Amino acid sequence: QRHLISAADLTRDDAVLILDTAEEMARVADRPIKKLPTLRGRTVVNLFFEDSTRTRISFEAAEKRLSADVINFSAKGSSVSKGESLKDTAQTLEAMGVDAVVIRHGASGAPYTLANSGWIDAAVINAGDGTHQHPTQALLDAFTMRRRLVGRDAGLGRDLAGKRITIVGDVLHSRVARSNVDLLHTLGAEVTLVAPPTLLPVGIGSWPCEVSYDLDSTLPKADAVMMLRVQRERMNAAFFPTEREYARRYGLDADRMAKMPADAIVMHPGPMVRGMEITAEVADSDRCTAIEQVANGVSIRMAVLYLLLGGNEPAVGQARPSVH
Ligand code: CP
Repeated sequence: QRHLISAADLTRDDAVLILDTAEEMARVADRPIKKLPTLRGRTVVNLFFEDSTRTRISFEAAEKRLSADVINFSAKGSSVSKGESLKDTAQTLEAMGVDAVVIRHGASGAPYTLANSGWIDAAVINAGDGTHQHPTQALLDAFTMRRRLVGRDAGLGRDLAGKRITIVGDVLHSRVARSNVDLLHTLGAEVTLVAPPTLLPVGIGSWPCEVSYDLDSTLPKADAVMMLRVQRERMNAAFFPTEREYARRYGLDADRMAKMPADAIVMHPGPMVRGMEITAEVADSDRCTAIEQVANGVSIRMAVLYLLLGGNEPAVGQARPSVH
């Protein structure tokens, strides 16, 4: 298999191999010349139909560090505005010789369709589709948790068994939450979702996690607390929670952070809305890993690209996983 569509497709061994490979890739960033020749002569297109800062730039940095040729496509300013379809857009890009497509799309399932329709031969990597999945975000979050909660060297070969992770906020619209629940469950962590009832999806009872409406009661036993942004762009305006009421019940401020164990971390996938789900004081504290997560994202995306496309020579002495 050549695609990464969903965190749910990864076995424990796949995920641990990606995390371990990312540790090797992280060493490249410490070198004077931050490059590997692994993807020399390969072309990767970043196909973004939705806005992005972290994911788009992080994939581009990862591709360049692996010496790939990079094409950046943004739907804004393209012939998509004239009505061109995903199929025609993808086939147009592939005609220019593309080996992999990194796709972000507002429609849940668009990367799956691209990978399974037979429209193109290139490998497909999901960079976020609608409210469905964001697998490389879940991987970089797991990488950050493993480093912080298990240890950089001590974590090699290990999963997150027994770690207690609380994910807070707009679960309903969050591909980050879905991907994290899938991957953290696979890695043996215990996940609790905390959200107002109106921001939980139908069918949440079948997800492999606990659900709570009470943030304060979950904090004292959490090893990591991941705050989610309220995704107003995916909501009808009538359903917007008021900022003050939301922050009072589900926001993380310094008083709430003090209820967490002393070595527990605060995570956020970004972009953060300071004052809503997280105060500036918490966002800027040493316990918040938001910026570390961004840095780790480059290593994870290098690992995924290497393992999916990586040529014949194992650059880091490891076999390829069965990522699909
Ligand atoms: N975390 C994340 O996906 O951020 P961007 O939307 O900026 O890529």
